[in-house]
Amino acid sequence: MQTNSCSIKGIVQQLLQHKKELIFGNGVAILATLLIVTIPLFIPIMVDELLLGKEHGLISFISTYIWTTDTKGYVLGILAVILLLRASSTLLSIVQTKIFVSISKNITYKMRVSLLKHLKRVSLKEYEMMRVGAVTSKLVTDVETIDGFVSSTISKLIVALLVLIFSAVVLLWIHWQLALFILITNPIVVLFTVKLSRNIGKLKKEENLAVELFQSSLTETLELFHQIRAANKEEYFFKQSETKAKELKEHSINYGYKSDAAIKFSYLIFLAGYEVFRAVSILAVAYSDLSVGLMLAIFSYLWVMVSPTQDIINFQYVLATAKAACKRINSVYEMEQEPLVEQSVNPFEASNVTSIEVKDLSFSYLKNKPILENINMQIDRGSKLAIVGASGSGKTTLANILVGFYPFDKGEILYNGISNRVLKLSTIRKNIHLILQHPKLFNDTMLFNLTLGNKYSDKIVQNALQIAQLSDVIERLDKGLDTLVGKDGIKLSGGQRQRVAIARMILSNPKVVIFDESTSALDVHTEAKLFEELQVFLKDKTVITIAHRLSTIKSAEFIYVLEDGKVVDSGTPQELLTKDESYFSSMI
Ligand SMILES: Nc1ncnc2c1ncn2[C@@H]1O[C@H](COP(=O)(O)OP(=O)(O)OP(=O)(O)O)[C@@H](O)[C@H]1O
Ligand SMILES: [Mg+2]
Repeated sequence: MQTNSCSIKGIVQQLLQHKKELIFGNGVAILATLLIVTIPLFIPIMVDELLLGKEHGLISFISTYIWTTDTKGYVLGILAVILLLRASSTLLSIVQTKIFVSISKNITYKMRVSLLKHLKRVSLKEYEMMRVGAVTSKLVTDVETIDGFVSSTISKLIVALLVLIFSAVVLLWIHWQLALFILITNPIVVLFTVKLSRNIGKLKKEENLAVELFQSSLTETLELFHQIRAANKEEYFFKQSETKAKELKEHSINYGYKSDAAIKFSYLIFLAGYEVFRAVSILAVAYSDLSVGLMLAIFSYLWVMVSPTQDIINFQYVLATAKAACKRINSVYEMEQEPLVEQSVNPFEASNVTSIEVKDLSFSYLKNKPILENINMQIDRGSKLAIVGASGSGKTTLANILVGFYPFDKGEILYNGISNRVLKLSTIRKNIHLILQHPKLFNDTMLFNLTLGNKYSDKIVQNALQIAQLSDVIERLDKGLDTLVGKDGIKLSGGQRQRVAIARMILSNPKVVIFDESTSALDVHTEAKLFEELQVFLKDKTVITIAHRLSTIKSAEFIYVLEDGKVVDSGTPQELLTKDESYFSSMI
């Protein structure tokens, strides 16, 4: 179910949630700009009144009522005012940047949190097909693209529009015919930009995709470095990453220069209009009553308009890139999530032991390719059950389903008589512990790998270690429980890793335990000792064992035989052994 999505509308709505800061920030920005845009108004004062001696202006007003001095004094005075205006404007723009940066970073932070929330609940089926590098590139690069859009939009767009409007009004006031001329040419530039920006959006999408492909390739190469080295294939895999880096370079060059060219081209059109306008203005001085000072003021206003016009041109481009980034981000939101269940009962709370009833269960990873078909099983409270079957018959799949890793197509599972349909998968997982054949370890301390961050007393940890036959192993480690186990627990042997997983299970103390060939890497002697010690711990628990060793299965109270995803037989070990030994022929 898609709970969220990235869209320009959504970003604007998020922006509106920061109304107060936006108003304040824009207020500061407008003030900063107002201080700057008044500066050209000093030109006619200096040129027409001070240089050309025009009467009845601001200077004669000042000299009559405020301050009388000579030309030098007025020029220095005006210079001081202008410098003060510029300095104040700079200070205000620093404040403005701080406000806008925190708004945009806040929005992108929320976007990342929302994406992480989605990923937290992503279904295992999706996870199995996920390319980690692709997802991380969306959370990093694409969100960064959105950040560029948000920060440039909020900090510049409103101010740019206001400056343009302000300048337009002043120009209309100075010389309306000239003002109309420039006001008509501006929209032409913007229209032209909109057309060009579409292509730029596409190029940005391609560039971000190239980042994704490079990142995926590199992550996978580094993740599987050990295997790659074992197969002597470094050359091949690093070459692949190199090729992706080359493709990224090409896309980046493509985007980098074409987007810059598009912006420059749009700007060129604006400048061409500006040059024509300058010629027209000179003609206006020559053939109408426009003064030289006012003409220079008009030129200054044109320069004032350059930067906001550029901002509006750029806005078209960042908007196009943001749309492209949103599309890519949405592919993360489109990843299927685990179903949301409103849970009102918890069957595991009422009793310490749990029964499981599988009714007519069918499951497939891919549509129309059933892996499990019409499975029926009755697992009584506290019973010890075994599942056997050939490789690929669906044992691990069934274990994964019992533990709530995958929602299934048909049938239901009753836990203490309550259907899985009214239970959250996380509730099931909390109470049923599956120990895998190849447990995954964190590149952290031994202690963290045992507790996964939960707090247990020393005594409880030591007890778990002793049952799991790990006490000696820990003693031999240089830093005991504080020893780092390395990437994926590489510093431990396969059997030691399996025992860590078993100790982890003991600490979490679940109601049901499923062993999926979880002791396959142990020698017979250690395995026997482990199960002997485990006996007391498992006494009241429901235990399901998937095993290839006959010795493990013989101690089970009941056995189900799976073949091609179907239960083909069941009974006590004695019944099955006398009936059809072939089920166990491959076991030792
Ligand atoms: N994540 C998956 N996506 C798609 N198909 C899968 C997935 N996991 C397993 N399968 C397929 O499901 C079938 C059953 O696999 P499963 O791992 O359940 O068998 P198994 O009985 O545990 O075998 P083994 O004894 O070798 O562990 C296999 O044909 C396998 O190809
Ligand atoms: Mg298996």
